[in-house]
Amino acid sequence: MPSRLVVLVSGTGTNLQALLDAATDPAYGAEVVAVGADRDGIEGLARAERAGLPTFVVRVQDYDDRDDWDAALTENVGAYRPDLIVSAGFMKVVGKRFLERFPMVNTHPALLPSFPGAHAVRDALDYGIAVTGCTVHLVDAGIDTGPIVAQRAVEVLDDDDEASLHERIKAVERDLLVDVVGRMCRHGWSVNGRKVSLGE
Ligand code: GRF
Repeated sequence: MPSRLVVLVSGTGTNLQALLDAATDPAYGAEVVAVGADRDGIEGLARAERAGLPTFVVRVQDYDDRDDWDAALTENVGAYRPDLIVSAGFMKVVGKRFLERFPMVNTHPALLPSFPGAHAVRDALDYGIAVTGCTVHLVDAGIDTGPIVAQRAVEVLDDDDEASLHERIKAVERDLLVDVVGRMCRHGWSVNGRKVSLGE
């Protein structure tokens, strides 16, 4: 049986699309069973709808506090009985309740622990870095602090701006995410301290 993925998005969803495309091959070992978002009207949700997948939106502003929002997100996600949650450009930090219930990976457009947070590409560029990249990591209670599963490097070019650099990172990021999620689903993973090993 393929592993059941719920993918969470906040934007254009090109990482989601890469997972959807990979999962058309039964040998991939995982299928996307639903896509959730923290906002309406985004291309990520449209991609899911075009793929015939159920979608749901859980907006922070519709709840009294973050804990209620987290409970609602947990309930919506849980309805799809996922084996793994993929945060693919999901711009919210999930709460304790969510993380106690589901394993989750996030993709981040920098080489963590450098440049965590929502403006990683801009921050790396402003710092004057020569090599950056992307990271797939397990999600813990912090902001981009969970154990690293895999990383790939991307060179910064002299004439890069935030948009051009982010596009080149995203091309590498999509491949890495597809590779890592597939391996996790096919072979399992274990965590020893901060060290993540793929395969039992
Ligand atoms: C990715 O670079 C992700 O790491 C970052 O936002 C981007 C999302 O891209 N947090 P997309 O929505 O998958 O196209």
